[in-house]
Amino acid sequence: MADCQRGTASLASARLQPTRTFHIDAAEIRVLPDPAALARAAADEFSRLARESGATRGVFTVALSGGSTPKAIFNLLATDHASGASPLPWDKIQIFFGDERHVPPDHADSNFRMANEHLLSKVPIPAANVHRIEGELDAPTAATRYETKLRHVFHTATSAMPRFDLIMLGMGTDGHTASLFPGSSALDETQSLVCATWVEKFNSHRITFTYPLINAAARVLFVAGGADKTAMLGHVLRGDPSGQTYPAQQIRPVNGQLVWLVDEAAAGML
Ligand code: 6PG
Repeated sequence: MADCQRGTASLASARLQPTRTFHIDAAEIRVLPDPAALARAAADEFSRLARESGATRGVFTVALSGGSTPKAIFNLLATDHASGASPLPWDKIQIFFGDERHVPPDHADSNFRMANEHLLSKVPIPAANVHRIEGELDAPTAATRYETKLRHVFHTATSAMPRFDLIMLGMGTDGHTASLFPGSSALDETQSLVCATWVEKFNSHRITFTYPLINAAARVLFVAGGADKTAMLGHVLRGDPSGQTYPAQQIRPVNGQLVWLVDEAAAGML
């Protein structure tokens, strides 16, 4: 089932408004002036949703993205907590990961390790609320076990689809998101919620959420910044003149909100 082969101190504290906000189809695009403002906006969105869901539903289910972009977001959430200004209901927050590398949790490439170092080890979230992907296991086994874990925490039978309050995503310069890479057979997965996939360019497996699970979310929040993302962001949001399509374009919440937080450097083609 699971193996489908496939900027200052004022910036840190300011609650910044986007430079411009517009829609492209179903996606809401919010453009922030620079990387610090981008991270601040993402941290504020996380906090707003955590408070809202925690208060109205008694739980906030969130999947964190990996890579490097989230580090600044996680650092802000940790310093927000340390300031004591506006605490989050950490006991009501259930943390998942949208993807993981095929490595142990203490490996330099581990998305869990990054989130733990920059955020989870610095806030009072119960250990039982942090659900990491067991990247140290055989990849298909890790995917199957994670799907079982997801269904257990969401109390869903095998047929129902877990609906995350928030799924955070990044976008690679090749248009991948989570570990849904161009050309991988994970893109064709329609049944599993989580699967293992071979990524040729890294010569390794990854474990990733699939489109069905991501597109079932109440909210998907992409965070993408930097000039290296400009061209791909243009292709993903405005279309590629060559007609080529990309995994990040297939993220369309069926009954949820899609928001892209980007900085000016990345928004040049929008
Ligand atoms: C991962 C991520 C991946 C990431 C993008 C963007 O495990 O690497 O889940 O999808 O979000 O590659 O990465 P950066 O934020 O480092 O540009």
